[in-house]
Order: sequence, then C-alpha cells, then structure tokens
Amino acid sequence: MRAIVIDDFGAAPTVAEIPDPVPGPGEVRVKVRVASLNGFDLAMARGWLRGMMDHEFPATLGRDFAGTVDAVGEGVSAYAPGDEVFGVVLTQPLHHGSFADHLVIPADHNIAPIPAGVDLLRAGTIGLAGAAALASLGAVAPHRGDLVLVSGATGGVGAAAIQLAVQAGAEVIATAAPGGEAAFVRELGAVHVVDYTGDVAAQVRQLAPGGIAAALHYAGDPDVLAGVLMEGGRYATLLSALPSGDLPITAVPIYATPHREVLEHLGALVAGGELRLPVQRTYSLDAVPKALEDFAAGTLGKLAVVID
Ligand SMILES: NC(=O)c1ccc[n+]([C@@H]2O[C@H](COP(=O)([O-])OP(=O)(O)OC[C@H]3O[C@@H](n4cnc5c(N)ncnc54)[C@H](OP(=O)(O)O)[C@@H]3O)[C@@H](O)[C@H]2O)c1
Repeated sequence: MRAIVIDDFGAAPTVAEIPDPVPGPGEVRVKVRVASLNGFDLAMARGWLRGMMDHEFPATLGRDFAGTVDAVGEGVSAYAPGDEVFGVVLTQPLHHGSFADHLVIPADHNIAPIPAGVDLLRAGTIGLAGAAALASLGAVAPHRGDLVLVSGATGGVGAAAIQLAVQAGAEVIATAAPGGEAAFVRELGAVHVVDYTGDVAAQVRQLAPGGIAAALHYAGDPDVLAGVLMEGGRYATLLSALPSGDLPITAVPIYATPHREVLEHLGALVAGGELRLPVQRTYSLDAVPKALEDFAAGTLGKLAVVID
C-alpha cells in the first residue's frame, strides 16, 4: 500500500510502498478515506518528537482518520468489515498512521463509529482538533457572559473552540488578521476580533479594561494572554506553555484525549450541526508533503487529505 513515511527523525516525508498492515488480536484495519493535518504531524515530520515518543521506522504520518473497517483481528466484536469509523491513531511506538491506504488500530483505542448524517470529510477532520478544543473548554469552564479570548482562533482547534465557547454562553474574542481571517472567526461566532499582528494586550484591554475571564492558548505569547486576565482568571494552553511570573490566575497545560466517548460526543455535535470545522483545502495522498508545507505556512480551518 501507499503511505507517507519518515525513515528517521527529521528525514523528509516521502510517498512509499509498504506492506499492507495485518490486524493482530484486538485490532481493526481501516481503509482510510479521509485524514487531516494537525500540528502533531508537522512535529513528527520534523523530528521534534524525538525523545518524547517512541518511533518505529518507517513511521507513517497522520493521526486523524475516517474510513471503513475492512478486516478485524481475533477477538474483535465491537466492529465488523464495512463499518464506517473515525478517530485518532496515537498508538506508540509511532508506526501506523492515517496518511496511508490502510491503518491498523486497537479496537479499544481512539476509534468510534461515524454517526448517521456525518460524512467522511467531516468525520476525518474533527478528531484531534475537536478533542483538543473540548479539553481546553473543559479546563477553563466558561460561565454565561464570560469574555473568553481564543488565541490561535484561525486554526482547526481555534475554529472548534470558538463554537464550543459560544455554546457555553461565553462572549468570544478571537485572534485574526484583518480581512478574510476576521470574517472567518466572526462567522464561527466570535463577537470581537483582535489582530494578532498588532498589540493584542492593548486591543483586549480596550474591550475589557477590568480584564477577561479566560484565555485559550493555541498560539501567541502566554505572558500577553495571562496579562489580560482578571484576578481569578483561567488560562489553558495546548502548547505546554505556562505564563511566567506569579499572577492571581489559574494556568494549566492540557492535552487532547480523543477516547471513544470523546469521539462519540464530537460526532453527536457534528451530526446535530452544533460543531463544524471548515476545510480550507483538500489534497491527494501523494500531495501530503506539499500539504505539510502549506500547514506550516498557515491555515484557515483544516487541511484534509482525501484518499481514493
Ligand atoms: N496538546 C495537545 O493535545 C494538542 C492537540 C491539538 C493541537 N495542539 C497544538 O495546538 C496548536 C493549535 O493547533 P491547530 O491544529 O489549530 O493548529 P493550526 O491549524 O496551525 O492553527 C494555529 C493558528 O494560529 C494562528 N497564529 C499563528 N501565530 C499566531 C499568533 N501569534 N497569535 C494568534 N494566532 C496565531 C495561525 O495563523 P496563520 O495561518 O496566520 O499562521 C493558525 O491559523 C498547535 O500548536 C498544535 O500542535 C496540541
């Protein structure tokens, strides 16, 4: 089968022919139809996960997936060939991935059935970004009327977080450059837009001189975000980047946990029209190296990979 692999830390991703994976006991094999790009893929492609996660080379890139189960290993009763599924492959060592014709994943790992009414494109782009957005909203738990700053609002996680924050009753301030980016975040529900190419702290203070209730850090300077919080404000970072200094706020690092229950919750939100991740562009499997370059250069929503 075809797969986008790296042969070593930091080696250029290439399109390779590798053997079809065979599901072992407790595993399912998925014919991947849609995958999407995340910061994780870029980090893995550039070798930044060396020393943090075990790798088995050649290691296939791609975490988010949606597709069809086409084989199951011994003892699997939760899935059968023909089932449409989606999820996030985070098994270690990093070896199987979704930028491939097939992937193998334990049936009790991050995989769930695609709910009725959700297509493969939406299912294959929601897993990691959606789970990250849910975890970060859970960490700052906004109350109705709270002002919440989403920093990095134009990416996949940010797009989901704006919608979840609005549903929780918050008033969202989103970071975006003027023009198309600002229109994008407003369309998702942001009430205020601050230009992250300018002075974010000054723009937020102008909106809320007494400070804001919460900040979600997906990009930008942690100290700037922490500095605009009111006393008792809440800060959550997906980048393990806590603010320096001793401020009267709560600041926590958070990590996406795309378990089956979380995926089911995301699937229900998507099916119910409460959550959608705009897809900026789609790529063929062979074009994934270019997609990684484009992702690094900046995105508006998600970049998807559609695999025939
Ligand atoms: N810890 C976890 O479990 C976990 C899970 C998922 C994601 N993450 C991380 O969370 C981050 C966001 O993920 P993502 O998939 O949404 O990434 P993404 O699609 O690359 O989104 C990041 C967005 O932030 C914008 N941006 C760049 N610099 C900025 C700044 N100084 N201030 C405000 N916005 C800025 C980018 O805009 P431009 O297009 O203009 O550059 C881009 O649209 C990534 O670093 C990712 O690795 C962590």
